[in-house]
Formats: sequence, structure tokens, C-alpha cells
Amino acid sequence: MRPLLLGPLLAPLCWLILAEAKSDQKPEDNLLVLTVATKETEGFRRFKRSAQFFNYNIQVLGLGEDWHGGEKETTLGGGQKVRLLKAALEKYAEKEDQIILFTDSYDVLFASGPKELLKKFRQTKSRVVFSAEELIYPDRRLEAKYPQVHDGKRFLGSGGFIGYAPNLSKLVASWQGQDSDSDQLFYTKIFLDPEQREKINITLDHRCRIFQNLDGALDEVVLKFETAQVRARNLEYDTLPVLIHGNGPTKLQLNYLGNYIPRFWTFETGCTVCDEGLRSLKGLGDKALPTVLIGIFIEQPTPFLSLFFKRLLSLRYPRKQLRLFIHNHEEHHEAQVEQFLEDHGSEYHTVKLVGPDQRMKNADARNMGADLCRQDRDCTYYLSMDAEVALTNPDALRILIEQNKAVIAPLVIRAGRLWSNFWGALSADGFYARSEDYVDIVQGRRVGVWNVPYISNIYLIKGSTLRSDLRQKDLFHSSKLDADMAFCSNVREQNVFLFVTNQHSFGRLLSVDNYQTTHLHNDLWEIFNNPEDWKEKYIHENYTEALKGKLVETPCPDVYWFPIFTETACDELVEEMEHFGQWSAGDNKDTRIQGGYENVPTIDIHMNQIKFEREWHKFLVEYIAPMTEKLYPGYYTRAQFDLAFVVRYKPDEQPSLMPHHDASTFTINIALNRVGVDYEGGGCRFIRYNCSIRAPRKGWTLMHPGRLTHYHEGLPTTKGTRYIAVSFVDP
Ligand SMILES: *[C@@H]1O[C@H](CO)[C@@H](O)[C@H](O)[C@H]1NC(C)=O
Ligand SMILES: *[C@@H]1O[C@H](CO)[C@@H](O)[C@H](O)[C@H]1NC(C)=O
Ligand SMILES: *[C@@H]1O[C@H](CO)[C@@H](O)[C@H](O)[C@H]1NC(C)=O
Ligand SMILES: *[C@@H]1O[C@H](CO)[C@@H](O)[C@H](O)[C@H]1NC(C)=O
Repeated sequence: MRPLLLGPLLAPLCWLILAEAKSDQKPEDNLLVLTVATKETEGFRRFKRSAQFFNYNIQVLGLGEDWHGGEKETTLGGGQKVRLLKAALEKYAEKEDQIILFTDSYDVLFASGPKELLKKFRQTKSRVVFSAEELIYPDRRLEAKYPQVHDGKRFLGSGGFIGYAPNLSKLVASWQGQDSDSDQLFYTKIFLDPEQREKINITLDHRCRIFQNLDGALDEVVLKFETAQVRARNLEYDTLPVLIHGNGPTKLQLNYLGNYIPRFWTFETGCTVCDEGLRSLKGLGDKALPTVLIGIFIEQPTPFLSLFFKRLLSLRYPRKQLRLFIHNHEEHHEAQVEQFLEDHGSEYHTVKLVGPDQRMKNADARNMGADLCRQDRDCTYYLSMDAEVALTNPDALRILIEQNKAVIAPLVIRAGRLWSNFWGALSADGFYARSEDYVDIVQGRRVGVWNVPYISNIYLIKGSTLRSDLRQKDLFHSSKLDADMAFCSNVREQNVFLFVTNQHSFGRLLSVDNYQTTHLHNDLWEIFNNPEDWKEKYIHENYTEALKGKLVETPCPDVYWFPIFTETACDELVEEMEHFGQWSAGDNKDTRIQGGYENVPTIDIHMNQIKFEREWHKFLVEYIAPMTEKLYPGYYTRAQFDLAFVVRYKPDEQPSLMPHHDASTFTINIALNRVGVDYEGGGCRFIRYNCSIRAPRKGWTLMHPGRLTHYHEGLPTTKGTRYIAVSFVDP
């Protein structure tokens, strides 16, 4: 009695207490979700995950049954679904309180929980509520029979409906159709019969308060980011639908929404409950690790192939568990590939090479690689990797395996660009379109594992997927599409999801445009196109330390000495010059001399003779200028030069150089080979200080003022051949 006396003020509280006392009997307990899925597709598992996330009680009908409901499992048109529902409802026919939600599942996900669903359902005051559609299907002639709607969608969609069990039983009672008949047409006809509509008490969710069908409604739906959760909002009706259905041609848009919904999600860490069955390779001994076939595709002249193989070797994965398939389309790379296989081929479990002489086309080679894994029951994963991928993370393969996805790519990006190996969306004609989150994902402001319509260059496929959903042999052809687009299109068609992850940093994509192949060592010319790889290959590993002021030596007053080039840089520069071969100190040199400055001729080849002056200038600007400004404070250089050349000293050619000034503000002098190994003698003496550097270190440069103080001479090379690279900077 007391609550009554105290009036409405306390009534809600009291009700709360009562409800709590009865907490083992929540209203949600009367809700059952029924769905038909004959196969556990990835879409179905996504649906199930979203249902579990919100604690829906779901029952799956037809699992393992053959599908007769229409050509594709996802199209509307499945009488089989009505048959299965009818049978399942039998035992609930008398249960007045039982509420059933019937929904498709391959292309549906929950955006909210049972409480909200039931509340919205009760607010309709109807016994059965169907989702509403913008478009009428399958029989347009029925349009006139549809009741007019002032605000909202007019047509019935059978992809989702909710109702009391007895009323739903009544709804399907008259079903006698074939499995292949249209369920939507069946329900439509009942709905359009005014008498049945009223008796069973059916209405449509016109304003998408519960059901959002995306077909025909894409412009109405946006993502709404809340603190810890993401919802889809229908802007047209200002509603937050509970179920999102990617019906008709909107599968990809559902995949996009599915990247955010219903997960608890933050931009920094990505989703926190999105991944089912992550597997861990931790603690597995080498022999217990899954066998992986790596398919390597060299489909065009590609810079830094030596680094590609180096990174392949540095993958943290036992080589005995790896098989290699290499398709090299380019004669240009034949020697490098063969050298790699000669040096390391035997360390791998098996190796198969298809060389340029076999003239195999890109798509055929990719089919061959995938098929090698498919046919081999021991092949647990297939990693397809193009030569232009710089996979700098040695754990990449393990990380990808641990994601436990059928198909997944690590995000790789062209340095400093927005170009990457995935597309966030497709245009209407199936080509690239930029998704709203594309830039954020590329730039790492949104982190996660993303379901996307297109990946390329590098991806991991489960062997079991190749042997089931992707068992069709010709994955890499599809009408006129190129191999990558064909692959993605075929995979999507099989309802297999394509994922890309940016949860780790994996590496980058080389730029292969403008790669010159006319030199002996073409990578030297790549300082503009691929500066990071150029640095990795050619700049001394301790250069960065030197830039911090460490490691810099001062062997003579104002003469600095620091590491600049790798061994490879030295060797390739020397080989490039020897390959060019036109060493001279004579006539053709004079034409290059500006104002007669080079008054002490050396046997040399100038950078411009091998058309390397732009690249050399870039090198001076990027790597020498910062050192200059650090070591000679207050001096700023634009690293201009007229003279930059490689000098060759030989006892019987030109062993030494007489004392001279350099026509420069400062000079750099890089030792390109090794004293005591390649030559004997040599070095440089600064006369004013009576100070010599007699054991130049390969890859290290001297940097000294050019005029006035630093009058110097080249000490005689007594044996072998000595090479140095000299630049007169700021003449
Ligand atoms: C369906 O709903 C109506 C309420 O409009 C109710 O009167 C009827 O008994 C329900 N049951 C069936 C089996 O139709
Ligand atoms: C369903 O039943 C409720 C009352 O139970 C009534 O107000 C409503 O108009 C009915 N709807 C239809 C479509 O018959
Ligand atoms: C770089 O410096 C470290 C430490 O001084 C040294 O051990 C290493 O050999 C250097 N690297 C090269 C390539 O000289
Ligand atoms: C230069 O130094 C050497 C030893 O390093 C010494 O023998 C020589 O006498 C010096 N020459 C002059 C001109 O000081």
C-alpha cells in the first residue's frame, strides 16, 4: 500500500525493485532469434559474433542442409527459409509471450541489443513487424495495392521481421511453396490482403527504427561515433536501426559498416572484440609452425631486388617450413634470382622457379602459385608477394598467420604518398573509390583489421580456403580485369572477406615507375623514386650516429671524417665507373673544367659522364649538407658543385697527386675501397699541418675546407688500385 500512498514519485523506484527481484525472468528471455544459414560463411560468422556481442539468443536453422532457395545463397527468393521457419515455429505456436525475430544472416549484423529491439517492437503496437524497403521486389505490378505511406519506406522486405510466435505461426501456416519460390512474394501477398494484414496484425517498419535495408538507402545511412560504440544512423528518419541488412548490391557497404559495428571501438587501438579465434604461434617449436608457400612475383623491372631477397631471408620463420615459388618475368633480374637461389635455395623446403624464358603471363603465374598450395595438403598458408613490396617487419608472416583470417593483407604504403595496397571502396564500375576512412587508415589514425573490397601486392591466404571456397582454378582471371582485380572480384564472389591490417607497421611499396634499366647498377639512380630504400642500401648504418655528432673523427685540424657509404655503395659506384670505362686526364677533361680550376688533373670519370649528377646532387643535399652545417656551424650550403668525380690511383697510371688547393669551399673525399686489401699506400696529407690520413676507411668520407688553409696532396698508391669519390662543393 505504501507506494500508492507515496504517490508517483516513488512508484518507478518500487517497480525497479520488483523487477530486480524477478531478475531471472528478464523480458529479453522471451526473445529468440531465428535465422537460416546452410553454410558457415564469413558473413554468417560476423552475424553470429554481433549477436553474441549483444547477448541475443539465436537458433540457426538449416545448417548443413543443401541450399535450394535460389541461385546464390544471399539472394532473396528462398522459399526454403519459409519452410524451415514454419517447422521451427511449431513448438512455439501456443506461446503467447514468445517473441521471434527472423532474419537473414549472411549479410546482416546487429547494431544494438535485445532491450532496445523489444522496446521499439512494443512501441509499434503491432503483433508482426516487417522491415521496409525503398524498392519493390520481386513483382512491381503489386505497387498499386500497397497502402500509401506519408513518411517512410513503403514496401515489404522479408530479410527481417519480428513478431509474437502465435501470429508468426499463423503467418506461415499457409506456406506450401517450393524451396525455390520467393519468400518475399509470399509474405507480400499476405500483407497486401487487408483482411489477413489486420487479423495477423502486420505492419512495416517504415522509418527504419528496427530494420535498415541498405539497398536503395545508402545515402540515408551514416556512421555515428559515440564514446565507446558506433551506430548507423538513418539521416532521413533520424533513427538508429537495430539490424543492418546489406541486401541486394550493398554487400560491400555492409562490410564497411561491419568494420565499425557493433564493436567497442576506438581510433587508436581499433576494435577490441572484433576478432574471433586469433591463433598464437608463441611457444610453437620450429617444426610445429604451419607450412607456408611463398609466391614471389617479379612481373616488371623492379628496383632494390637485392633488398627484397635480404628481407625475405630476415623473415622470422624457419626456412625449412617455407616453400618458394618464384615467377620472374624479367630477363633483367635473371642473374639476381639465380644467385639468390644458388646461395639460399637449399635452405628452403622446396623451390620452384618459373623464369622469363617460359613466357608465362602474370595471371597464369599467380594461378600456378595458388594452385601449388591448393594441391598440397601440407600447405597451410599461401603468402603471395610482389617484388615491389618492401616487407621491413621480420615478424610480418607470423602476425598475419595469427590473425586467423581466410585472406589478409598487411598494409604497405608508398613512402610519403597515399598510394597503398588496398582500396576502401569500389566505384560503380568496380574500380577504385576512396572510402571515408581511407586516409585515416593509411596514415594510421584508425587502426584495426579492415574488411575491404580490394587488396594487392601482398596477402596471405589459408590453404584450406584455397581448397574450399576458392577451389576454382582460375582465381586470377575475370573478364577483362587485370589479375589483381580479378582475384579480388572472384574472392568477393565466393563471399570470402578480404582484410587488410594496419595494426602493425609492415613496410612499404616501392615505386616502380621511371625505373631505369640502362645502367649496370640501376638502383643507384633511385634516390628520387625510392629514397628510403636508397638510404637502406647505400647509406652507412652508422651515418645517423655520425649526424648526432658521435663517431665523427678529426684526424687533422678542421678535417672531419665520418661514415657515409655502405660497402655496396662503394662497390657499385666503382663498378659503374669501370663499366663506363672512359677514364681520362687528358683533352676531353679540359672541356669540363670551369675557369681552369681543376689545375691538377686526375685520372677520373665525372658524375655527369655517367648521367649521375642530379642524383649526386640530391645525395649531397640529403646526406652531406646536414653534416656540413653541423660541423661548420653558421655555414649554410646548397651543396652546389661543378666537379664531382671518381678518381683512380694506380702505381703505373697515376699513383699520387701533387700538392694543390681545391676549387671549393669544402671538399668531400670518400674512400671507395679497402687499403691493405685492394691497394697499398695512398692517403691524403695536409701540408700546412704536416698531417696525413694514411689508412682511409672504405665508405668513410673526409670533409675539409677547399681553399687557403687546406693545401693538400694525394699520397702515392704503391700497389693495386685505389678509388675515391671527390666533390668540390660550393665552388
Ligand atoms: C495476432 O494478433 C492479434 C492482435 O491484433 C490477436 O488478436 C491474435 O489473436 C493474434 N494471434 C494470431 C494467431 O493471429
Ligand atoms: C494491430 O492491433 C492493434 C491493437 O491490438 C491495433 O491498434 C492496430 O491497428 C492493429 N494493426 C493492424 C495493422 O491491424
Ligand atoms: C657501426 O658502429 C658500431 C659501434 O661503433 C660498430 O660495431 C659497427 O661495426 C659499425 N658498423 C659498420 C658497418 O661499420
Ligand atoms: C712531419 O711529421 C713527420 C712525422 O709525422 C716528421 O717526421 C716530419 O719531420 C714533419 N715535417 C715537418 C716539415 O715538420
